[in-house]
Amino acid sequence: MRKKVIAGNWKMNMLPNEAIEYIDKLSKLVKDTTNEVVLCVPYIDLFYALLAAQNTNIKIGAQNMHFEEKGAYTGEISPQMLKSINVEYVIIGHSERRQYYNETDETVNKKVNAAHRVGLKPIVCVGETLEERENGKTAEIITEQTKLALEGLDEEQVAKTIIAYEPIWAIGTGKTATSEDANNSIKEIRKEIARNYGQETANRVIIQYGGSVKAENAKELFSMSDIDGGLVGGASLKVDEFNKIIHFEQ
Ligand code: PGA
Repeated sequence: MRKKVIAGNWKMNMLPNEAIEYIDKLSKLVKDTTNEVVLCVPYIDLFYALLAAQNTNIKIGAQNMHFEEKGAYTGEISPQMLKSINVEYVIIGHSERRQYYNETDETVNKKVNAAHRVGLKPIVCVGETLEERENGKTAEIITEQTKLALEGLDEEQVAKTIIAYEPIWAIGTGKTATSEDANNSIKEIRKEIARNYGQETANRVIIQYGGSVKAENAKELFSMSDIDGGLVGGASLKVDEFNKIIHFEQ
């Protein structure tokens, strides 16, 4: 049985003092859950968030990183830097980074490999635009993105990579894919992984859904056969709402 991983993506929100207050509150509410709880926070919050999350079952992640170990890359953060302060997860290839910051399948692939080299768990985002969906290209786009992101990894590394299926038209728009649609897309992604790395590996990969996940739709989405939790943006900014999503079974 795959674990459900519920990850918050705070994007460019929350100051360090707000992060500490949030984690203090959330950690008390999620003590009992067997779902993996992750918060992907802005760089500036990482250190404070890690301290606040110590001795709790909340894991901390970053939202991006460079693929190089070090060097003349003004303003960038390396995988080693994240690892050195005990960050566990890192989002790679979020559609906002692909759209606004020239992230490509190639840089995503370099980052995924770099994350595994230092033992960070990547959460790799894939997803189609509305136009691609309307042209019947969803499966083609998301399987290609998945294939390119994972190139160069061995089976064990693939099994430890989280994929977040996030249809771009559903992010921050209030529009969610239907649970059947999301489940079917995720099945396509799993099939692609099975083709390249074997069914056993594919069965181990955690594949989340993301895009306007809220307390009201989390149960329906996360109860589907192939949806292993979610990457949650807007709704992860409120402790009570995110707590309800984490406890979606209730
Ligand atoms: P949203 O964002 O939940 O606000 O739609 C999801 C994401 O971008 O990861």
